[in-house]
Formats: sequence, structure tokens, C-alpha cells
Amino acid sequence: MGGPGVTAVAWSIDGTTFSYRSPLGSGVPLGGYVVVTAPQGALLGQVLSQRSLEEAGRRLVTGPGRLLDAPPGLIAFEEVALSAAPDRLVAERLGRRGATLELGTLRGAPEVTARLEAKGFNRHTFLCGQSGAGKTYSLGRLLEELVLRTRLPLLVLDPNGDHVHLGQTRTGVDQAVAAAYAEAARGVQVLGAEPRDGVAPLRIRLKELGAAAVAALLQLDPIADREEYNALLHALRSAPAAGFESVEAATEAFRISGDEVLEQIRMRMENLGVDPMAAWAKRSARSVAEVWEQDRPRAVIADTSGFEERRERIAVSVAVLEHLWANRQQRRPLLLVVDEAHDVCPAEPADPLQRLAVDQFTRIAGEGRKYGIHLLLASQRPDKLPENVLSQCDNLLLMRVNSAGDRAALASMFGFVPPELVELSGTFGLGESLLAGRVSPDPQLARTGARLTPEGGADIPTDWAT
Ligand SMILES: Nc1ncnc2c1ncn2[C@@H]1O[C@H](COP(=O)(O)OP(=O)(O)OP(=O)(O)O)[C@@H](O)[C@H]1O
Ligand SMILES: [Mg+2]
Repeated sequence: MGGPGVTAVAWSIDGTTFSYRSPLGSGVPLGGYVVVTAPQGALLGQVLSQRSLEEAGRRLVTGPGRLLDAPPGLIAFEEVALSAAPDRLVAERLGRRGATLELGTLRGAPEVTARLEAKGFNRHTFLCGQSGAGKTYSLGRLLEELVLRTRLPLLVLDPNGDHVHLGQTRTGVDQAVAAAYAEAARGVQVLGAEPRDGVAPLRIRLKELGAAAVAALLQLDPIADREEYNALLHALRSAPAAGFESVEAATEAFRISGDEVLEQIRMRMENLGVDPMAAWAKRSARSVAEVWEQDRPRAVIADTSGFEERRERIAVSVAVLEHLWANRQQRRPLLLVVDEAHDVCPAEPADPLQRLAVDQFTRIAGEGRKYGIHLLLASQRPDKLPENVLSQCDNLLLMRVNSAGDRAALASMFGFVPPELVELSGTFGLGESLLAGRVSPDPQLARTGARLTPEGGADIPTDWAT
């Protein structure tokens, strides 16, 4: 390889890592797999860092890597031959350990399937990449695989209505695949602000929100408005059937109570336009929490895009989170998926209601895993989400990130990912990603494959450019 006197070599001081030197262009890229012909046998390794250097007028690449499946015992070795790993070995490596989710292909080896381990979703996951990097598309592909190949219930908070077709297949998908998918996706339920064909109403009940959230909706401060706040607390606590079913029931009860303070609260509700909010369940409709409990669906897509006001989207999220937390002792595993997670869980909440949502996410990020509540949060930048939520994520699915500052923040926050691979995300094209953490057998550089289901809100066509 590389002409006389310059061959690719590797050596190891501990038998678990290696250093290498290789002629440029000999198929040993950053993140790629190699075979190291060590004395203890041919070992598969992964290149985790790379820089170039010039030696005797030739350019070489050099750096450290990790030996995979090295036998126990710290067997150091002197320079031995190193070569690019054949696809077959890489596919074998990725195909083991229950890595059943087929996301696409490897970026550097289009013949090898990029795989994720379903079991790794028993940890929290951050999907990061700038606008247009392909997060939503890839998230959809991942949800398809989870639907197809696992029994993990999915609850998707979908602020743009991007995932509303998760139950259908695209035209042109292989018939056998489409049939298998249709069978697996039978229990996918889509709920939206405006019910229509195939979309049930997305609703919440007053009693599902919790007193603090109702107070936040009514802009009541526990200190400045202590009288009203306290009256509200007591009214909610003493309501029949553990809380008011609907806002109408509450306003009616306040109106006929003859209590001056409750009347003030009723006026507040009316003045702030809280009572006509579309998200409230009318008597006959079921709330999203009721759908989740009664039907135990395969997946619920909660499309909040049709709600005009942000407070409605947040209120729906708060009700869902409140319900999941209140019922955590059921220990029923689920993946709570939040696209555009900064919408409901921003680093800097804009008002008390949003702050409540952030508190709930923080609690679930810290303690949810014990109860089977796992998060998958998608957002454009790390600093858009609270640090103490992100720091609990053991999986990073990273797409293109242009900002060097964001890449540095990600590398420091996700210490389990080789920093040079994080840095590489600045060069990613559409649909390219770094998959790392519990979900990935090794850090993989991947390219997302074609979707089985239609995208909900695809980008606006750019035919205006011609
Ligand atoms: N792997 C892919 N193959 C083909 N097209 C893709 C792929 N990934 C994304 N696209 C297309 O690129 C566009 C942008 O992708 P997407 O909406 O997923 O980006 P995003 O990262 O979610 O952006 P935003 O942060 O603005 O929501 C979409 O039109 C989508 O159809
Ligand atoms: Mg998106």
C-alpha cells in the first residue's frame, strides 16, 4: 500500500487502543473501520482521530483508534499491518448485539446498513442538527423502524404536524414491506386540533393540568395574587371527581358559588380567553391521556400544529407530561418523542406555563428512566434546550451543525462521543449523521435511507429560483 517503504501500520501500547500511520488515500478515514494484524489475531478497529503529516516527502495520516473485541489482557504490540476493513466485517460488527433498527447506510460504505440497537432507547436521546439538516425526515425513518421492529409504545409531540402519516406507507414502497409495515402500524393513532378523516381530536381536561398549570394559564402569581391563587387551589381540590372535567364545569361552579373571589377567577378566565381554547375536551370527547390509557395505542401522534396559540401547545404538553408522571408507578415503558423540542422545553422559558413544562421535562430527564419514561428530543442547537435535560441524554444523533461554537458545546456535553467525529458534523450533507451512545454499537457515520411513510409538512418547493 502506498509504494515501497510506506505501508499502513498500527501499534498498541495497551492492547485496547492503537495508533496508526498510513499513506494518504489508503482507505483509512476518520470514523472508518480497519483490520489490525495484531499478534493476538486480526482485530477490527475504528479510527477515532486523524491528522496529516509529511514524512520523507510523502504525506501520511496518523492518529489513535479503538480496538474492538480485543481479547482480554493488555497485550501491547509493535508496528503491524493495518488495512481498511472489508464491508463484510463491518456489517457483521454492526449486525450483532440486537442492532435491529435499519436507519440507512454508512456514509463511507454505502453497501453496509447503518443500524441502531432498539434497547438503547431505554436512555434519553438528543437529535441535533441545524434547520434543513434532515432531522425530521430521519426522525420519521427512525419512528418507522421502531414501529416495525419493536413493541415500544411511542408518544410523539409534533408541533408542525410532520409525523401525521406515520400510519400510512408511501406509494412505490415494495409491496411486501408495505404490507408488513401496515400490519405493525395498525395501532398508530393521530390526534390533532382539527379532527378530520383519520385524525381524532387532540384534547385535554382541566383536571389533567394540575393546579400550578391552571394558575399559570390564568396568570395568577402565588404571592402577588395570593387570594385568588388560594381560592383556585381550594376550588380545584374540592371539585367533584378529583377535579373539573371541563372548563365549563369550573366556570359554572365558580359562577353559582356566590364567592366573590371565585367570581374574580371566572372573569379572569373569560378576559384571558382561556375558556374558549380549542384544546379543552368537551363532555363527549376523550382527552389524549384517556386515549393513551384506554386504548394503549402502538403510537400516538399528538399534532399540535393546528392550535393557534403557543399556550395551547404548551398546555397539551403539560397535561401529557403530568399524566405520565402521575402514572409513573405503572412502569409502562414508552418513548416520548418531541420534535422541535425547544418549543415546549426551551432553555429560557418565556412564561410560567412554559417554565412548568421545562420543570416536568427536567424531572423526567432526571428520574423518568427508572419508570420507563424515555425521551427523544429533537432540536437545532444544544443551547436551545435546558442543560440539565441534555446532560441526561446518553444517546446523540447528530446531523449537520454549521456553528463551530455549537459543535464545541456538543463535544463537551456528550463526552462519550469522540470529539473529532462531532467536529465532522460541520461537513455533513443532507441526511448525514453521527449516531452515538447506547443506541449505536460504535459511533457510526450514517446516511438516512428512504422513508416508508409520507412526510407531513415537507419543505416549500424552490421553483421560484428558476
Ligand atoms: N435523507 C433524506 N433524503 C431525502 N430528502 C431528505 C432527507 N432528509 C431530509 N430531506 C429533505 O430535506 C428537507 C429538510 O429536511 P427536514 O425537514 O427533515 O429538516 P430539519 O432538520 O427537520 O429542519 P428544521 O429544523 O427546519 O425542522 C425536507 O424537504 C426533506 O424532505
Ligand atoms: Mg424539522
